[in-house]
Amino acid sequence: MKVLVVGGGGREHALAWKLSQDRCAPTLFCAPGNAGTAGLGTNLPIAADAIEALVDWAKVERPDLTVIGPEAPLCGGLADLLEAEGLRVFGPNRLAAQLEGSKVFAKEVMEAAGVPTARAATFTDPVAAKAYVRQEGAPIVVKAEGLAAGKGVTVCESVAQAEAAIDAAMCARVFGAAGARVLIEECLVGPEASILALVDGEHCVLLASSQDHKRAHDGDCGPNTGGMGAYSPAPVVTDELWPMIQEQVFTRTLVELQKRGITFKGVLYAGLMLTPAGPKVLEFNTRFGDPETQVILPRLDVDLLPLFDACIDGTLSASMLAWKPDACVTVVMAAGGYPGAYAKGAVIQGLEEAGQVAGVTVFHAGTSLDGGAVVTGGGRVLAVTALGRQLPEAIERAYAGIDCIGFAGGWCRRDIAAKAVATQGDV
Ligand code: AMP
Ligand code: GLY
Repeated sequence: MKVLVVGGGGREHALAWKLSQDRCAPTLFCAPGNAGTAGLGTNLPIAADAIEALVDWAKVERPDLTVIGPEAPLCGGLADLLEAEGLRVFGPNRLAAQLEGSKVFAKEVMEAAGVPTARAATFTDPVAAKAYVRQEGAPIVVKAEGLAAGKGVTVCESVAQAEAAIDAAMCARVFGAAGARVLIEECLVGPEASILALVDGEHCVLLASSQDHKRAHDGDCGPNTGGMGAYSPAPVVTDELWPMIQEQVFTRTLVELQKRGITFKGVLYAGLMLTPAGPKVLEFNTRFGDPETQVILPRLDVDLLPLFDACIDGTLSASMLAWKPDACVTVVMAAGGYPGAYAKGAVIQGLEEAGQVAGVTVFHAGTSLDGGAVVTGGGRVLAVTALGRQLPEAIERAYAGIDCIGFAGGWCRRDIAAKAVATQGDV
């Protein structure tokens, strides 16, 4: 069985790693992959967003399944094009991916479906947007409507900051076309959690909870990043919240999409804020999270391919899933300068030693092979992941792994999952 994984980050290494353990032992291809996926299959020199080149490869090689990792090819319609060639794809079509690709569309769907979310208004005119901000007052949240690599959201503490964020998105176009429209949202407060669900068009099954750490530095300070670490489970998601999240967030959204003639198959990811008034959706993604995937898949105690097949065939049920009781933590090692400009090509030492620490798996993100050496090639370089009986053990093991690894300029947060341990007693 031939499986193509599209993407080249830590999420895709984790997907390929889990797929490689499936009973049917698929032959794996990754486009473009990284130094980690090179050890599990064949890396193809095709970028994840080179849709035409991916379709050309698939037309010739006829993979039995294509798993699409990142949002860009999903929003660009890669699933639609592969399906039109009679190929099986795990990942939503272009219309369904708009839940992530357009925050305006997502908000419209949520409002029509009665999904709890922040109150928002949409603007195409910066003058009107600023007038609205002055009327509403701060704190307030400004969001570029389109894809902005996780950087399009500004939580503003003052009206002046919000006006500056509107100018940056709509006038200076720092996020390109993604900033042509903005959403201005009420500012919610509460702990955050990521809940991902597998969806087969009809049914949806929630995966284990997790929490990302978006800010660059310890104590949730510094600029936003793609995610500096994650843990699963997230203790803030208590037993009583699960049925509420399933019904109010996922079922309502999927019913509304169906009403609009849109079929969703793949992973639907809800970024939630657990407010005093209940869970509210901050954003939808239409794919696995990165780095959430690196802590969810190691806990999954069943094969992945039957789940992907069930999503495609419309035969998904909750009884197909089983979880290890262990906790999982991943700590991202980033290149010096990230999330700003960063250097590439630094040789990474200690990967083998890290992999020998009990419970540790090192997922590669921005790495490549240079002769025999593994070198850095991206901002987020590695996701050092550990299973442990409880979160404290998983944290200790992940950092023991981190401490084996070195590369010039490399750094990480030192407090991943610490908040969960500190608050576990009172949630
Ligand atoms: P997003 O990319 O939409 O997940 O937003 C990035 C981060 O901005 C989230 O993880 C939250 O911390 C914050 N955020 C987004 N929307 C809101 C909101 N309405 N109120 C408060 N914080 C928000
Ligand atoms: N970790 C956030 C995301 O995948 O969008």
